[in-house]
Amino acid sequence: MFNPYEIRRDFPILSRVIRGRKLVYLDNAATSQKPKQVVAAIAKYYLWHNANVHRGLHTLSQEASQMYEEAHEYVAKFVNARSWDEVVFTHNVTEAINLVAFTWGLSNVGPGDEIVVTVMEHHSNMLPWRKLAKIRGARVVYVDITDGGELTYESFEKLLNKRTKVVAVTLMSNVLGTITADVVKRVAKLAHEYGAVVVADGAQYVPHAPTDVRELGVDFLGFSGHKMLGPMGIGVLWGRREILEELEPFKTGGDTIKEVTLEDVVWHDIPWRFEAGTPNVGGAVGLKAAVEYLMKLGMDSVREHEKELVRYTFKRFNEELGDEVEIYGHKDPEVRGGVIAFNVKGLNHHTVGMALDMFGIAVRTGMHCAHPLHRRLGLSGSVRASYYVYNIKEEVDELTTSLKTIITLRDKLKTGEVDERICTGT
Ligand SMILES: Cc1ncc(COP(=O)(O)O)c(C=O)c1O
Repeated sequence: MFNPYEIRRDFPILSRVIRGRKLVYLDNAATSQKPKQVVAAIAKYYLWHNANVHRGLHTLSQEASQMYEEAHEYVAKFVNARSWDEVVFTHNVTEAINLVAFTWGLSNVGPGDEIVVTVMEHHSNMLPWRKLAKIRGARVVYVDITDGGELTYESFEKLLNKRTKVVAVTLMSNVLGTITADVVKRVAKLAHEYGAVVVADGAQYVPHAPTDVRELGVDFLGFSGHKMLGPMGIGVLWGRREILEELEPFKTGGDTIKEVTLEDVVWHDIPWRFEAGTPNVGGAVGLKAAVEYLMKLGMDSVREHEKELVRYTFKRFNEELGDEVEIYGHKDPEVRGGVIAFNVKGLNHHTVGMALDMFGIAVRTGMHCAHPLHRRLGLSGSVRASYYVYNIKEEVDELTTSLKTIITLRDKLKTGEVDERICTGT
C-alpha cells in the first residue's frame, strides 16, 4: 500500500523547521530529497567497499566494480531496457543529451539537415542542438505548443521530412507538467520512417511514471539521478544498443579503450566507451538504492499519488483563491504530472516565492531554464510547485492558505514592507 505518511519517515529533512514553520518542500522538479536508504547505501559503499573500478584485481576493486555494474542492471530494469549495457552513466541528463549531440550528432548531421526541437524544452534539450546545428551548418526547427500547453502529433507531422535527422523532445514539461509520452510514441514511428533519431528528455518523466523504453520507441533517453531520490552527480543515457555500438566516445581517456598504440586505438565495448575516467561509483550505488526504493513503491502508485495531489491542488486553489491565481497548462491531471506553474495576480513571481519561504514553503521561481517557453506564454516568470512521493494533501492546504494570506497582503508585499510577521497575517 502506497502511504506517503510512512514514506515521509525515510526523509529526515522533511521534519526541519524553517523560520518557525514546518518545511513544506515543493521544489522536487529542481531536485528531490533523498531517503535514509539511499544515504546509507552511499555511506556503506564509501566506508566498506571503496576502490577504483575496472582497474584492480584486489577484492575491494572487484566489489566496487560489481556494485557499479549492478547499478547499470537496476537502471536498465527500471526503464525496461533490453540489456544493462544500453545504460551509460553520465553526470546528469544535460550531459546525456550533450553526449548524443556530440557523438551521433557530429557524425550524422550535416549542412542543410534539420533538427526538430519543441518550444517547451528545458535549455538542456535545446542548446546542445543549437550548438550542433551551428557547427554542422544544419537548421533547428521548432515545434510549437497549443494554447493549452500541449504538443500535438500533427504539429510534428507538419515539420518532419527527409531532411530531419533528430527529434529532441521532452516526455514531461518542467514548467507546464504536460506529459507527452503518447505523442512521442507516434512521433518516434514517423521520425524513423524519415531515418531520424528521437532523443527523449526524461528528466521530469522517468522519476514520476512507469517508463518503458521499448514501448516509447525512442532511440535515446536521458534522465538525472538527483530528481529521483538519488544523489547529485549521476545521470543516465539509455541508448539503443545498435546505435551506441556505432558511436565513438564522447570524451576519451582511461577506461574508454581496449587497446592503444601510438598510431591507433580500439574502443572499449559499450557502455564503458562512454564513461571516460574514474566514474562516480558512490553516485551509481546511491542511484541503484533510489531505483530499488521507487520499484518497491511501484511507479504506477507514484503516478497515481501525484495525479491525486494535482487534482486536489486545482480544487483547493479554485475554492480558496479563485481567479487571483493563474495556473498554466492543461487542467486535467490525467495528462499532466505533478508540476504546477502559476502566478498571483499583481505580484512578481520572485516576491511570491520569497513570501512563501517565510511560511517554510520551498518553491522555485523564475523561468525554470525554459526562457523560450515563458516567452511563448508571454510571461517574465512563474512560481512552480512540484510534488513527489512524500508530499501530502496537508501541504497543498498549507500552500493554499499561505497564498491566501499573501494575496491579502499584496499591497504591502509590493512595497517590500513584509517580513516574517507575514505568517500572522500582519
Ligand atoms: C525537463 C528537464 N530537462 C533537463 C533538465 C536538466 O537537468 P540536470 O540539471 O540534472 O542535467 C531539467 C532540470 O530541471 C529538466 O527539468
